Amino acid sequence: MQNQNDFDLIVRSGENIISNPLNPFSLEKKIGDIGIKNGRIAAIQKQILGSKAPIWDAQNLTVLPGVIDSQVHFRDPGHPEKEDFASGSKGAVLGGITAVFDMPNTKPNTSTVETFQAKLKEVSSKSYCDFGLFAGATNDNTSQLIEMEKIQGCCGIKIFMGSSTGDLLVSEDEFLRRVLRTGQKMISVHCEDENRLVQRKQIAIDRADPVAHPEWRDVESAVLASTRIVNLAKEVGRRIHVLHVTTAEEIEFLKQNKEIATIEILPQHLFFSSPDCYQKLGTFVQMNPPIREIRHQQALRKAIQEKVINVVASDHAPHTREEKQKTYPNSPSGLTGVQTILPLMLNFVNEGLLDLFYLSQLMSINPAQLFKAKGKGGIYIGQDADLTIVDMNKTHTIRTEQMATRCGWTPYDGVTVKGWPIATLIRGQFAMERDKVFNPQGKPIQFN
Ligand code: DOR
Repeated sequence: MQNQNDFDLIVRSGENIISNPLNPFSLEKKIGDIGIKNGRIAAIQKQILGSKAPIWDAQNLTVLPGVIDSQVHFRDPGHPEKEDFASGSKGAVLGGITAVFDMPNTKPNTSTVETFQAKLKEVSSKSYCDFGLFAGATNDNTSQLIEMEKIQGCCGIKIFMGSSTGDLLVSEDEFLRRVLRTGQKMISVHCEDENRLVQRKQIAIDRADPVAHPEWRDVESAVLASTRIVNLAKEVGRRIHVLHVTTAEEIEFLKQNKEIATIEILPQHLFFSSPDCYQKLGTFVQMNPPIREIRHQQALRKAIQEKVINVVASDHAPHTREEKQKTYPNSPSGLTGVQTILPLMLNFVNEGLLDLFYLSQLMSINPAQLFKAKGKGGIYIGQDADLTIVDMNKTHTIRTEQMATRCGWTPYDGVTVKGWPIATLIRGQFAMERDKVFNPQGKPIQFN
């Protein structure tokens, strides 16, 4: 008979990236066993002896703290033809992601207590991974933001300073100030200057070619918005998280302002560059803010090497093939990516751009700490047993057919990467094991 104090599962002999319990940012690599009990990490030892618990052999595999994708658009509710929480989160766990934070530009927008509660109820029954939901800011919903923030599962507030997919927008200083003074959770900001985007839209219409996308939504549009929001954040004394930074200029500026602003970048801006990407993939790499010339890609890569980036996320933003095939600029912006973000980043590790410790910081420890996700981010005793188990030596070619996304395409079709997720464990349960996905059991995360 099994001892009541025994573990529920032992992950055996993996190369574990573990945190110091007193400092989750301090990481070390240790080969050994992880004992899991009641969904939590209960032991980390060289070898756990005398247990009758089931054993999962992780020899020659790397065990990362559960990888979080802190920016996805799962389109639930409103656009099941593009995605819903089931298909989106299935892609997540297939790609080694244990938790996602989902954006509020849904239909209806997630910008009132009523829409937030309805979304929470709907997605709770069908998510394959744990999740947080953003509350969308508008010019006049501060009282709603305050109430939404209090709901379990609300990870923070999202501001669109420039129009993108949907109609969420807060572009003027007066209203931005008001949102910055609201609530306490993290405020994540899409920085493109609406006035400038409107002034320059004709460039896109005249050119009718996606290669003009970074010209329409130019460097100045991004810099203007980032500068404005950082200055407002300083004035109000509220920390902000600047999403999907794309320009060398913003990196330099944000580096000088790290006490008030943290930086997110996306793998697509590290991987693709203009104009080649538009020549090859057309509107299928059209996104906001755009993929830009090589000098920006180089600046982002350098920023990774210098460790000035806080978070890497996917901004998974599916649209159907039919929509993407419309003539530019009638084609919608957004790339799929939740299932491919980790393989791409593991490949960057194998190429020497960063190491596994920094990867774990960017995609697990930092998002958990910045958003204050309870029990998440870091392998140490007492934490949720969220583990992303990867094979750093497995070479794999990404194919559209393998994607769970309902929109049925990936810009990475045919790309070969080295490094692949083998299993995704969430609170001690397998969500994915060797490409097999188990029943959805994702839960809303508590953000303190
Ligand atoms: O390209 C984008 N697509 N950028 C965004 O900000 C929104 C996203 C979407 O929801 O489609």
